[in-house]
Amino acid sequence: MLPYFGFLLLLKSLTAEGCTANQSSTATLTATEDSRLLGNGTVSPPFNSTCQWNITAPGGKVLSIDARIFFFNRACGDEYLKIHDGPSESSSLIAEYCSLNVSFSIIKFSSSDRSVWIETKRGPLYSNSFFLIFYKAIPFEECSLNTTLNASLSPVEHNFSSPYWPLGYHLSTTCGWYITAPENHSVVLHLKYKLSMDSLEIYDVEGSATSLVARFTARVPGRLYRATIYSKFRRLYILFKSNVKTVDTDERFYASYSAITPKCSFNTT
Ligand SMILES: *[C@@H]1O[C@H](CO)[C@@H](O)[C@H](O)[C@H]1NC(C)=O
Ligand SMILES: *[C@@H]1O[C@H](CO)[C@@H](O)[C@H](O)[C@H]1NC(C)=O
Ligand SMILES: *[C@@H]1O[C@H](CO)[C@@H](O)[C@H](O)[C@H]1NC(C)=O
Ligand SMILES: *[C@@H]1O[C@H](CO)[C@@H](O)[C@H](O)[C@H]1NC(C)=O
Ligand SMILES: *[C@@H]1O[C@H](CO)[C@@H](O)[C@H](O)[C@H]1NC(C)=O
Ligand SMILES: *[C@@H]1O[C@H](CO)[C@@H](O)[C@H](O)[C@H]1NC(C)=O
Ligand SMILES: *[C@@H]1O[C@H](CO)[C@@H](O)[C@H](O)[C@H]1NC(C)=O
Ligand SMILES: *[C@@H]1O[C@H](CO)[C@@H](O)[C@H](O)[C@H]1NC(C)=O
Ligand SMILES: *[C@@H]1O[C@H](CO)[C@@H](O)[C@H](O)[C@H]1NC(C)=O
Repeated sequence: MLPYFGFLLLLKSLTAEGCTANQSSTATLTATEDSRLLGNGTVSPPFNSTCQWNITAPGGKVLSIDARIFFFNRACGDEYLKIHDGPSESSSLIAEYCSLNVSFSIIKFSSSDRSVWIETKRGPLYSNSFFLIFYKAIPFEECSLNTTLNASLSPVEHNFSSPYWPLGYHLSTTCGWYITAPENHSVVLHLKYKLSMDSLEIYDVEGSATSLVARFTARVPGRLYRATIYSKFRRLYILFKSNVKTVDTDERFYASYSAITPKCSFNTT
């Protein structure tokens, strides 16, 4: 039902961006802080068309993309949807949909720089493929390997998360956090995470020595998990690593932490 309704909407809405039947077009869009739908409506590629969108965020910002892709299961020469992390079709290809027999995909990410390039092609054959791509500009967030945090005595909690939480982060992100409790205390860390391809590693730190305590990855995609970790010493190091995304992902984590009187065990659920 939706695809057909969308198709009616699209003819009008896509005209503004130049994407029409029997044509190739390139539209240049500037993102704002308000979330916008590419094509200004439910989008199905027009008959016999190639459409490109060059979306750019203002200086100091990046793009947050939330894409839902339906079908695109014809041969790649006839029909596709491609998403590049950068300002042209030669920028790194991070998602490509064609000749797949999946019916629905979801991908959430932030651009590494200011632009994202999206391209659709549809041939002369019947198609019920369509896509909803939301984009908005968000402030750039630093992701350092070496952020230092101090834990306050429980029940005071502080928090940190994957970059741009709860939005998607950019590709190949690696970030690290040291958390230190006051002398004679240990750190308690509460995690909420969705991690299937990407991973979170927790290390006990004693002086310059570190030892791996737990690793969270390869969980059921899209499902939210929780874990609680107690440090053995005063410090924990948390290392977050994301792989290049070429498949469907909706991954992220959120952590809160505080300092408690020592416990020499950890426990996960
Ligand atoms: C696209 O081209 C075909 C054949 O060239 C024509 O029949 C059709 O009306 C055209 N569609 C539009 C929307 O211009
Ligand atoms: C597709 O569009 C091109 C122009 O971009 C036109 O020359 C060609 O005839 C069209 N094909 C069909 C099947 O309509
Ligand atoms: C987008 O759609 C809204 C309402 O559907 C309309 O008011 C607005 O003019 C459209 N914008 C463009 C650029 O087509
Ligand atoms: C896309 O837009 C950006 C910003 O306006 C521009 O720098 C870049 O050259 C554009 N890409 C292409 C291929 O024109
Ligand atoms: C997808 O394609 C593969 C290989 O052609 C086939 O084995 C599988 O059954 C298909 N799955 C669906 C849901 O159609
Ligand atoms: C981490 O930060 C400390 C100072 O806060 C610095 O001495 C150290 O070199 C940094 N390590 C890395 C890998 O950046
Ligand atoms: C953490 O505590 C140390 C020692 O009390 C202090 O030097 C440092 O500035 C604090 N760091 C942060 C990020 O609050
Ligand atoms: C995380 O901490 C910040 C302050 O550091 C606070 O403003 C925010 O509400 C906290 N978020 C949650 C979900 O607790
Ligand atoms: C930490 O524990 C040791 C041994 O119990 C004690 O001597 C020291 O005073 C304690 N330090 C603080 C800051 O409480």
